[in-house]
Amino acid sequence: LLTTAIVSTLSFGFAPTASAETSTTSNWTIEDASKIERTEDTTAPYIEPDFEKMAPELHVWDTWPLREKDGSIAKVNGYYIIFSLTADSDLLPGKRHDVATIRYFYSKDGTNWELGGKAFDTEQAYGARQWAGSAMIEDGKLNLFYTATGRKGEENVTYEQRLALAKGDVEASHKGISFSNFDHSIILEPEGKYYQTEEQAEAGDIGYTFRDPWFFEDPKTGKDYILFEGNSAGTPAERTLDPAYIGGEDFQSSFDFVNEDFAKLFNGAIGIAEATNDSYTEFEAKAPILEANYVNQELERPHIVTKGNQYYLFTNTHEHKFGPDLSAPDGLYGFSSDQLTSGYEPLNESGLVLANPEDHAYQAYSWMVLPNGKVISFYNFHDLDGKNIADLGGTSPEYQMSHFGGTLAPTLKLALQNDRTKIVNEQAPGKIK
Ligand code: FRU
Repeated sequence: LLTTAIVSTLSFGFAPTASAETSTTSNWTIEDASKIERTEDTTAPYIEPDFEKMAPELHVWDTWPLREKDGSIAKVNGYYIIFSLTADSDLLPGKRHDVATIRYFYSKDGTNWELGGKAFDTEQAYGARQWAGSAMIEDGKLNLFYTATGRKGEENVTYEQRLALAKGDVEASHKGISFSNFDHSIILEPEGKYYQTEEQAEAGDIGYTFRDPWFFEDPKTGKDYILFEGNSAGTPAERTLDPAYIGGEDFQSSFDFVNEDFAKLFNGAIGIAEATNDSYTEFEAKAPILEANYVNQELERPHIVTKGNQYYLFTNTHEHKFGPDLSAPDGLYGFSSDQLTSGYEPLNESGLVLANPEDHAYQAYSWMVLPNGKVISFYNFHDLDGKNIADLGGTSPEYQMSHFGGTLAPTLKLALQNDRTKIVNEQAPGKIK
């Protein structure tokens, strides 16, 4: 049980200062990740599978709140708003990524959510389907960043990923919230120098990612960025092992790869790009903030919370996305630095911030830390029988249909102090305020 006193809460507290910032990609090393271990402070409570779905007709997974430009949670005409990836709930859960649609919910109390509908007409959006992103309101305009996945009209499902922006008007009435007049733009594609292109990945890699745009205004400089999930550029043949990927000198001298050629294929990166216009339709890619070369393949939904002089960088990943030398759970991982683009060190020494309980290792996923320290996520697989899904033959259609949550999980409150974190308590499902 998690009953210990709150260490501190998160808040935005920077005075803007102009600092000459160096841009050096930080490494999440094999040494760091080999320290990953569940502790009392990082293990989420078990979720009883007696939940009510927020929208019974839908699978709901990755979710993000509407924020103000400074990152704080927005309220429009008395309503909070969240956006979620959704699909019909009679669909096999494993197939949902192929038809993902962004819908929105609104709420007066920030806990009980009313389904609004599709965020925009998907016919007008880029991509065969839309994956996760972020949302920001400025001067009454909604800026809804999303991932355009695949191409419209494709016969077979393809996985091209481009970062997109839908700009629309927000209408608020006593009946709730709606959006209209959307303009869609592609705002960034991988260029192959900092971020891997699909063609580079096809030359022998295990896949590529370029998704999950997350808007961030740097409180120290006032500059506007998006963070995103990417992979380090180049083909496997072009990639060389930098000993710094392994860890410090002592660790390096005692370390042997299980299978270096396979480890090389793991090249997850947290990308950053700076806005080059005021309408957020153009961005310039910069060197990744952090890479997990030889460590992890997918650093999903990266986002930042600031506190004092520190940037806290969070990302999600799965057990099976760690390379062959590591064994670590599905979880929320984090890093901190006093500079936006360099100097990140793993939180809690390893990077692990939050994992599911060992016996229910897949119960929740896609965590997002809000500026108030609340962590939202979705209820993924519940284990009625108390076993890991892998033990049950994993994801058979029958298992998926009977064990998938597809709704927001209980919110967790995270305390953050220096380079340590602690899960403080559990709150109502989907609570953002
Ligand atoms: C995380 C994720 C995101 C992606 C979405 C697709 O759960 O993999 O990176 O946008 O799911 O459904």
